[in-house]
Amino acid sequence: MASVPHLDACISLPLENEVLEDIIEKARDWALMHGVCMRSRSSFSKDTLQFAPFVLLPSPFPRKEFQKAVSIQPILNELMHKVANDHEFLSETLKSTIEVDPFTRNLFKIYETVRQEGITQPIRLGLFRSDIMLETICTRNGVPSMCEPYCCWKQVEINTIASGFGWLGPSSSAVQRYVLQELGHGDKIKNLPKNSALEGLTDGLATAWKMYGDPNAVVMMVVEDVSYNICDQRFHEFHLRERHPEIRVVRRTLTQIAAWGQLGPKKELRVRGDAVAVVYFRAGYSPDHYPGQAAWDARLLLERSRAVKSPSIQHHLAGTKKVQQALARPLVVERFLAEPAKVDAVREIFTGLYSLDFDEFGEKAMRMALDSPEKYVLKPQREGGGNNVYGSEIRDALLAMKDSKERTAWILMERINPPSQKGYVVRPGLEGLPPLTDLVSELGIFGVIIGDGADIVVNQQVGHMLRTKHSCADEGGVAAGLGALDSPYLVDDVRGCP
Ligand SMILES: Nc1ncnc2c1ncn2[C@@H]1O[C@H](COP(=O)(O)OP(=O)(O)O)[C@@H](O)[C@H]1O
Ligand SMILES: [Mg+2]
Repeated sequence: MASVPHLDACISLPLENEVLEDIIEKARDWALMHGVCMRSRSSFSKDTLQFAPFVLLPSPFPRKEFQKAVSIQPILNELMHKVANDHEFLSETLKSTIEVDPFTRNLFKIYETVRQEGITQPIRLGLFRSDIMLETICTRNGVPSMCEPYCCWKQVEINTIASGFGWLGPSSSAVQRYVLQELGHGDKIKNLPKNSALEGLTDGLATAWKMYGDPNAVVMMVVEDVSYNICDQRFHEFHLRERHPEIRVVRRTLTQIAAWGQLGPKKELRVRGDAVAVVYFRAGYSPDHYPGQAAWDARLLLERSRAVKSPSIQHHLAGTKKVQQALARPLVVERFLAEPAKVDAVREIFTGLYSLDFDEFGEKAMRMALDSPEKYVLKPQREGGGNNVYGSEIRDALLAMKDSKERTAWILMERINPPSQKGYVVRPGLEGLPPLTDLVSELGIFGVIIGDGADIVVNQQVGHMLRTKHSCADEGGVAAGLGALDSPYLVDDVRGCP
């Protein structure tokens, strides 16, 4: 394969060893002392934090593509919100998936139950994050060719539940601003875009809290039994209290909610004495967050309640990979967005997405993937990283489920090929100096939407986060230990495809 197109680093690299050693010492302490941290998986203790892996210098990202990502976010928010409100579309799209995937089936059952009982809380709070990557391969006249240094960006996925890094996103750029200053490049800081993700997300929670209308009620964060990404979650809580002193936040696991949760006569939610106005899920997106029926009962209780949920079960289902694939089919976006300009803008960001249903399209997708597995990513209906299949393993996985209904719960996606850049990744436990390596990045744009079936009252883009991984790695989740925190350094002098 031809070498991957490359974006130039923001300063001349490599750094001299002495300079590198000194700046890593400082940057690590800066990160530790400002809460750019997580809990250690290998030696977990509630008493200690470890800094989160980070890229020493911000990674180049074309300004024009960044601005396009920012400006399209409200359209994506609207699209997801309208999908969530379309019962016919959700049930038709997920029909074959729920037959074979027990997790999505359980979520869907909750949706059907609350729909039949009558929705008690029409207001939905969407705290979304659309993840994108620059693409370097474009197709002209049906022939794929490589662009220097990039072509445009494509959407990897949109998260509608537990969209993390509202704290770690902005704080990564704060570490890197400090590093640039210490290295004598303070003039470059102007190219790090402002990032108000934490303010935007917490204001979204506060607006929903006010709309609920009970000054004594709390915001309840639904958390895992053990939270590794504790700083990101806690800073949402601290920030909410600072900006909106009247709002109290509590953290509860699904197991605790199962034990303590109750509904009042008007379906008001109470959890261990607290009236709950807003339920903010930072867990609940993965089967292991539901260790038994009690946790599922807790999720149903929350959905039945009058509390505003982020996400509501409808927003959660709208964020499934199957829905993403269905939206990429011809004429589907048009069902949700009236203006042709919005439709065109959204279509442009989709890369090839295919179902593996037992029909002519599914069979064609099977053949394409078996012939050239390296061109695709195979995805199940899961969130949180580490679930997708890549490269030659796609062939094995597809051959194993070729004749089984299970394959309809998966989708096939064209693999995006981002340009690389050189950089240093600083990790806890690093011995010696980090090597200068080839890295690739994935940008996440945060969006907030609040509305009911008829009206949208808030619809905004609120900030961003960047994750970076080694160019040969398939996935780059920071919490999963593969990627590193980063932030975009906007550059003007790169030309994309004409
Ligand atoms: N089409 C793709 N091309 C290249 N990399 C991808 C693609 N889809 C996913 N990935 C990589 O895999 C990671 C996880 O995939 P994603 O669809 O975001 O699932 P999850 O819900 O588990 O986060 C992404 O963050 C990205 O690094
Ligand atoms: Mg993802």
